[in-house]
Amino acid sequence: MVRLRFLLPLFALLLCVPSSAHAADKPNEQALYQDGPQGRYLLDGDWLFRKDDADQGINQRWMRTTSTAGWNTVKVPNVWNLGDASNESMAGGIGWYRKDFELPSADSALAWAFRFESVNYRTRVWLNGKPIGENTGAYIPFEIQAAGLKRKGTNRLVVRVDSKRLDRDFPPARTNADGVPSGGWWNYSGIQREVYLKKLDTVDFQRVQVRPEIDCGTCDATVRMNINLRNVTNRGQRVSITGKFGDRKVNLGTKSLGPKGIAAFSDSIRISNPKLWSPQTPNLYDVSFTVRVDGKKVAGYDLHSGVRSIKVSQGRLFLNGAPLNVRGMGLHEESKAAGFAIDNARREELVNLTREAGGTVLRTHYPFHPYTHELADRLGLLIWEEIPVYSVSTAVLKEPSVRRLAVHELERMIGANENHASVMLWSIGNELSSQPGPVQVAYIDSAVKFAKEMDPTRPVGLAVAAYPSSLCQATQYKSLDVIGFNNYFGWYPGPSGQIFDRTKLSGYLDAVRACYPDKALMVTEFGAEANRDGPIEEKGTWAFQQDWINYQMNVMNTKPWLSGVVYWALNEFWVRPGWEGGNPRPAAPIHQKGLVTYDGVKKPAFFDIQRWFKATNQFPP
Ligand code: GCU
Repeated sequence: MVRLRFLLPLFALLLCVPSSAHAADKPNEQALYQDGPQGRYLLDGDWLFRKDDADQGINQRWMRTTSTAGWNTVKVPNVWNLGDASNESMAGGIGWYRKDFELPSADSALAWAFRFESVNYRTRVWLNGKPIGENTGAYIPFEIQAAGLKRKGTNRLVVRVDSKRLDRDFPPARTNADGVPSGGWWNYSGIQREVYLKKLDTVDFQRVQVRPEIDCGTCDATVRMNINLRNVTNRGQRVSITGKFGDRKVNLGTKSLGPKGIAAFSDSIRISNPKLWSPQTPNLYDVSFTVRVDGKKVAGYDLHSGVRSIKVSQGRLFLNGAPLNVRGMGLHEESKAAGFAIDNARREELVNLTREAGGTVLRTHYPFHPYTHELADRLGLLIWEEIPVYSVSTAVLKEPSVRRLAVHELERMIGANENHASVMLWSIGNELSSQPGPVQVAYIDSAVKFAKEMDPTRPVGLAVAAYPSSLCQATQYKSLDVIGFNNYFGWYPGPSGQIFDRTKLSGYLDAVRACYPDKALMVTEFGAEANRDGPIEEKGTWAFQQDWINYQMNVMNTKPWLSGVVYWALNEFWVRPGWEGGNPRPAAPIHQKGLVTYDGVKKPAFFDIQRWFKATNQFPP
């Protein structure tokens, strides 16, 4: 008895010691955003990380190692090159992440998948030492089924991330004449957004599409619902889907689903006098779907839907039948403390700053995080939603395979975000190249066609550099609905000696209007760097930035046919080694056109923009 009493604590202690120094977590059912499949378990908290500069992890079998030597504890989401301004870091590298976890014991799912919200850029995944899948590309979620998962005991997930930017990536690697890697934003490397373990019971949602359509401001709405389900089991079954759109019950019917098969369900309802969604009154309907097999619930999906129409007509954008001339912010989803691995509090801060400045539009160069979409839905912001097809040279875009890859990005972006009322259009890229020509036309035409087929309810746009040389490419932009001009008149010197001073802006805008009478035209960027006190005529001073903004706003406000004006950028961001961005006294690697400094301080120009935006932001009442 005495001996047993003595041994018990030791026994208990032994039981508590994990197989490695890293304890296995039991993830809880929670998600950083609401819309999506039910049954998502956040794999956050402590992970192990190891840099692999010599690319030896595969040969040394890091996917199987049990040792923790050389591995450090990090929190995921994580970027490993935060605050590092070196060329090597911008060019990218390899890092490994590893997480031990147990399945939530209360759950008896048939199968599980891992859902990665964004990993930059090439991802290879192993579970319990075996490869289970790969992905290429960042900012768009991907899922990998968790083959070989242990129901009891510790599982080990290992993720190898290769962030080296290559010429055919989006955005592509670019190297200047001195061999310095360049690019429009920092190559933050790692698992940038969260990872989930997703429960799969019999079926998985392949696509959920809820598409409200109205013909005019107050007419009835038709809501079309299409759901594709995938069978994750080896046996056929009878599957039924019911759901709700607000108070309305919907029934998408019952279908036979063959083993590993896919079944498409659809329904459509009419809603009289719908409560419309608009920036002023962002009404949302709660939507949910329940999937049953033999009467038993096997899966659920939630989302929020806004009834609104967005169209281009007679050369401008209309929301719910009323003309738009909206104001807003370009930004990066970044913070000084976390790089691109930000949390929801920072997302809220960025959205709130945009609103405080009088903005109603958000734009970045890649799809925003799902929570930012939900905030925009709830608060009545519009999103210019873009794929990172930025600055792709003509030589690269010439390859049909590259154009197909870009269209594939578009497909994944639309699939991920099509149910958000806030998404005003699909942008097929940004400043593709300053040389217009048949290659760009081939890309633009195929991308627009694809986007329209996949989602006929939204316009398709492209942001282009507002160079006088690219003034009237009417045939080139023929298939687009919206053209966004990135306007740096009076900031950057023009390419190849063109006169590009600010007094030319007004005439330029009038000329583009004449070139494209049927397209909705927006200014998708304008901005000047500022990092110091000093004379108004000196580029890079607070005063110059204010004066430049006031001049630009004055001119743009005389063009009531514009559908919107977006400042670039709300916040200063980490960009690349050697960046000067037109400022004779830059602070590389920080891009300083932001209205808020990297440390979070508002510049004087923030209040100029606020005054202008509040006075001129135009959207339906
Ligand atoms: C481009 C690009 C931005 C960039 C800006 C600038 O237009 O779209 O990503 O930051 O120029 O030079 O400041």
